[in-house]
Amino acid sequence: MEYLWWQEAVLYQIYPRSYMDSNGDGIGDLAGIISKLDYLAYTLEVDAIWLSPFYPSPMADFGYDVADYTDVDPMFGTLSDFDALVKGAHERDIKVIIDWVPNHSSSQHPWFIESRSSRDNPKRDWYVWKDPAPDGSPPNNWISVFRGPAWTFDEITGQYYLHSYLSEQPDLNWRNPETRQTMLETLRFWMRRGVDGFRLDACHKAMKDPLYRSNPVLNTPRPGYKNLGEYDSLIHIHDQGHPDIHDLFREVRSVLDEFSSTRPRFSVGEIHLEGEEWASYYGNGDELHMPYNFGLLMGDWSAAWVRSVVDTQERLLPPGAWPNFVLGNHDEVRFTTRLGEKRARLATLMLLTLRGTPTLYYGDELGMLQADIPPEEQQDPWGRRQPGLGRDGCRTPMQWNAEEHGGFTSGRPWLKTLDADGSRNVAAQLSDPDSFLNLTRHLIRLRKGSVALRRGSYQPIEGLPEAVFAYQRLHPDETRRVYLNFGAEPVRIATEGEVVAAIDRDIRVEDGELVLGGLGGAVLS
Ligand code: GLC
Ligand code: CA
Repeated sequence: MEYLWWQEAVLYQIYPRSYMDSNGDGIGDLAGIISKLDYLAYTLEVDAIWLSPFYPSPMADFGYDVADYTDVDPMFGTLSDFDALVKGAHERDIKVIIDWVPNHSSSQHPWFIESRSSRDNPKRDWYVWKDPAPDGSPPNNWISVFRGPAWTFDEITGQYYLHSYLSEQPDLNWRNPETRQTMLETLRFWMRRGVDGFRLDACHKAMKDPLYRSNPVLNTPRPGYKNLGEYDSLIHIHDQGHPDIHDLFREVRSVLDEFSSTRPRFSVGEIHLEGEEWASYYGNGDELHMPYNFGLLMGDWSAAWVRSVVDTQERLLPPGAWPNFVLGNHDEVRFTTRLGEKRARLATLMLLTLRGTPTLYYGDELGMLQADIPPEEQQDPWGRRQPGLGRDGCRTPMQWNAEEHGGFTSGRPWLKTLDADGSRNVAAQLSDPDSFLNLTRHLIRLRKGSVALRRGSYQPIEGLPEAVFAYQRLHPDETRRVYLNFGAEPVRIATEGEVVAAIDRDIRVEDGELVLGGLGGAVLS
């Protein structure tokens, strides 16, 4: 079997607004990221970066409302900054993955401005316009993920338009062939500039029921892994995941393949669906390279539960498909806050030793914590509409050093910086051998140097105490075993071999026994 770069890579997500500000306006930018490429390549040693949107945008949803798919917002820099970023990354052997937002544009995108201008405008059908119901209410009962009806009435032409998220984010009509071709062309635009892959935003939403039928209503709202309130009162069978989406993904794949003779290009989809439906997005190796697996974001972190997430993915994967795991992203509560420091270290050890591509979210290598942003300081539109669901807390500036604002900006940061005790920053943690950062670095390096961890099969180890999840990674040339104690009590495991990584420095095998304290974990040769 041939392994492609993204299968052996450790991916790292950057939220450009919050990574590094080069010009003191308090907002991170592309030049700032360029100035940190050495950190990424030589300190952290990640293989690829995924950049959240940097496109021109009114920033109603901080860039996930795109007003031009083929440019850079002046706030973040210019196209030539972007080219320099790609060049600098490639010189350091780092691949560049960018966010592509197919489900919706900004309401300020010239396409939408035209579309809403009249019913017979040639771009009318690029978005989803419907007549009101006979009583003037919206065409169906669909609800926006961010609360309220998914339809907004437009006085100018007397119809409603669809928006799965904010009203500033009208949904594109992927059933219109011209829209489709124009959007696919934007992928080519970026690949010609050297982009190695795309993260497809909210892409399970891109195809809906062509008849726009109402969703069935649940009498007792059933929360998903987050309680989304009103949104959870519907069964989302008509407003997302229509089977026609598979054609679209095959088309995306073939556009990527046009460019893959120089080097393989890559797609990873944000797919908030589960089970067989989730797995179907791999297609027969002809759709997404990976749909993100969010399984680890939603459970109690008992050993049995963690194992079930891993085993379930292994069971669901179609032949030849490649697994993946994430612990956080720009929409989720920071995992060090969710799990606590020690369990977060254990989770990191697991993430970087499981079979499948891991994605780290910026700052997670430091154990960065969730910030508590008071309601009056909420910037995230979701948090302003639905208290408790705001995402600012995981988007605070990267903590580089102990200077004011963590060395992120010389100005006033767009969100406050959190480094209360001065220890959760790159500089401090680099000089502490036991820091979260040094643990993460060690594990990344271990993975890169270990064919078993990169390519080996996954096999759970049976017959251990209930609180332990353990597995072998088997490759003809090497075996690695990973023991994770998710319980609070110490456990003793009879075994041979040597500890090659552990979350505490004093963990070792002695007299044929591995002793793991509560929430201890180790990788053995
Ligand atoms: C995705 C993004 C999220 C954004 C939403 C709408 O879920 O990850 O940040 O708000 O799509 O684009
Ligand atoms: Ca800036």
